[in-house]
Amino acid sequence: MKKYGLNELRQMFLDFFESKGHLVKSSYSLVPHNDNSLLLINAGMAPLKPYFTGQEVPPRTRMATCQKCIRTGDIENIGKTARHGTFFEMLGNFSFGDYFKHEAIHWSWEFLTEVVGLEADRLYPSVYLEDDEAFDIWNKEMGIPKDRIFKFGKEDNFWEHGAGPCGPCSEIYYDRGEKYGCGKPDCTVGCECDRYIEIWNNVFTQFENDGKGNYTTLKQKNIDTGMGLERLATVVQDVDSIFDVDTIKALRDKVCEISGKEYKKEYKFNNQCIMEIMNGAKKDLPNATVVLVLGILSLIFCWCYGFFGLILGIIAVVLAGGQRKLYLQSPDEYTESSFKNVNAGRVCGIISICIAGVVVVVLLLVLMGIVAGIGIASFGL
Ligand code: GLY
Repeated sequence: MKKYGLNELRQMFLDFFESKGHLVKSSYSLVPHNDNSLLLINAGMAPLKPYFTGQEVPPRTRMATCQKCIRTGDIENIGKTARHGTFFEMLGNFSFGDYFKHEAIHWSWEFLTEVVGLEADRLYPSVYLEDDEAFDIWNKEMGIPKDRIFKFGKEDNFWEHGAGPCGPCSEIYYDRGEKYGCGKPDCTVGCECDRYIEIWNNVFTQFENDGKGNYTTLKQKNIDTGMGLERLATVVQDVDSIFDVDTIKALRDKVCEISGKEYKKEYKFNNQCIMEIMNGAKKDLPNATVVLVLGILSLIFCWCYGFFGLILGIIAVVLAGGQRKLYLQSPDEYTESSFKNVNAGRVCGIISICIAGVVVVVLLLVLMGIVAGIGIASFGL
């Protein structure tokens, strides 16, 4: 398979669907218009919702786009998987009451295997578990053996994002090989690891969700497909993650050059969010210092309490010293464990304050006792 660049793949997709009678449009804005259900455009279909519902007449009943998208829901997965990003581009071909399951499935397979050249043996379709029609198209028309077609429930194979057009879907997964797998014996299509990666989603848009979970059947049957361009480039270029495809790597290399950092040289949790938490924790530095001073004082006067006082003083100094060391770390030294240690440091600080407090109170009592003793001795009381 040729290792096409991301820009080439985008053009190949749009040309392919233009050849199938689609009107190719440029990406719509990331900011939704007349759609209160979304903060940002999260799929190719989102700006086209009125065409799916029949509320507006599309310029053509077949359209194709490469839409800029942001999925806020994916943010938690960024950096943890090879396939999630904040901003991404979604390739999509759409039918507004025109073709349906048959053409959508055939063309998705044709594009992936004949145009891009992905090995058919590494592709696995999935269908919504009640969608026998889509199952039969894959099995009887496309010749995919039954045991290579996966059936999933609503969570995986029913596409909806907020209110609007939605429906059961049929996805296509690509097996990137064992080197990307989690190694679990049951690792297969649907596993959360990065081996079987979903690249194409054929949505059979037949329903409308009113946003409260009530579904009505649309007047027309539609097709909404979505394929993450960066994911496609990842498998075509056989690179580790979406951050390693040609165009994104070029940006990443420039960022490394400007920042003077080497990508992945050392895996550290020094991202903005962690820096802010650590910097917030630094406000505890004066407290830790006070605790340290109290601990040292209690050490100095430990002879007052013998062995027990010595132990308490040492514990207070060690805990408060450790807490201060953590807060004095420079951002370059932040690691995942220093982040976790912030709370541990606070607990240590509280314990050392208590210990030092007990020591000081006992010390005061002893001093009062000494003063009282001197008084008694002086005045002969
Ligand atoms: N609209 C189809 C998808 O985002 O997967």
